[in-house]
Amino acid sequence: MSFSATSSSTDTGSMPVGMVHTVADLRRQVGDWRKAGKRIALVPTMGALHAGHVALMEAASRQADKVVLSIFVNPTQFAPTEDLSRYPRTLEADLAKAQGAGVALAFVPSAADMYPDGFCTTISLAGPALGLETDFRPTHFAGVATVVAKLLIQVAPDVALFGEKDYQQLAVVSQLARDMDLPVTILGVPTVREADGLALSSRNVYLSPAERANAPALHRALTQAAHAIAGGAEPALAVEAARAQVIAAGFALDYLELRHARTLAPVAAATDGPLRLLVAARIGTTRLIDNIPVPL
Ligand code: PAF
Repeated sequence: MSFSATSSSTDTGSMPVGMVHTVADLRRQVGDWRKAGKRIALVPTMGALHAGHVALMEAASRQADKVVLSIFVNPTQFAPTEDLSRYPRTLEADLAKAQGAGVALAFVPSAADMYPDGFCTTISLAGPALGLETDFRPTHFAGVATVVAKLLIQVAPDVALFGEKDYQQLAVVSQLARDMDLPVTILGVPTVREADGLALSSRNVYLSPAERANAPALHRALTQAAHAIAGGAEPALAVEAARAQVIAAGFALDYLELRHARTLAPVAAATDGPLRLLVAARIGTTRLIDNIPVPL
């Protein structure tokens, strides 16, 4: 078995994070913890960890005795035109953050381990996967759901945590776990934001200084629309005003929509809630997404 313990220069005295690369080694370690009666949490990531991921790992530490962090830049959720090759890869810094956040084990598989020759199964989705991201990235959630299903089966955690920042992903994964009777609780963790409201994202590093200065317009537009709807404004008009605000800030808008918070089905009236506002827009070459609840 290869199980390496990694310790970083920013070591705070916490236990070093173990690291495994294969499913067999992962299962051996998790199996030992299970036999010892430990409760296990999984935080699936693609690395390039930021404060949003730290919040996920810390929340996981409060939920379980042992936290497994997966770091895998999943090729099947990127379209050929997307940023797979330039996606940031920062393993050493990620492990240092994981250690500070109480992670016990990092699972860092290779693409060949996750998708060996001959791999040909994908999860087919509907419900919350329809529309929004899928209108612009038609194969994205099939890739996400397939890799998340694999990770949930490989780790068999009691609980798995996902950021609300990728709200549609959270809805898709929750539906997947329910539909496939996976014995795991899926928990959403609130979005972590910069002081000016920009949601933390691994893709924020691509923003030029001018784009970074404009980027909080997304959150501002959502917040104003949410308050307007909560205050009795006609939802369609509030959404239209938010779209105009985003475009005026220099974004190319993919969508800005008001949806049912659980099913993500379109809604016409505020009484159709709970409600969520979701946006995706491009500034320069960077595509940002965000969402907030409508406080009704
Ligand atoms: O949110 C992410 O980082 C990814 O979509 C996930 C859930 C790790 C699957 O690759």
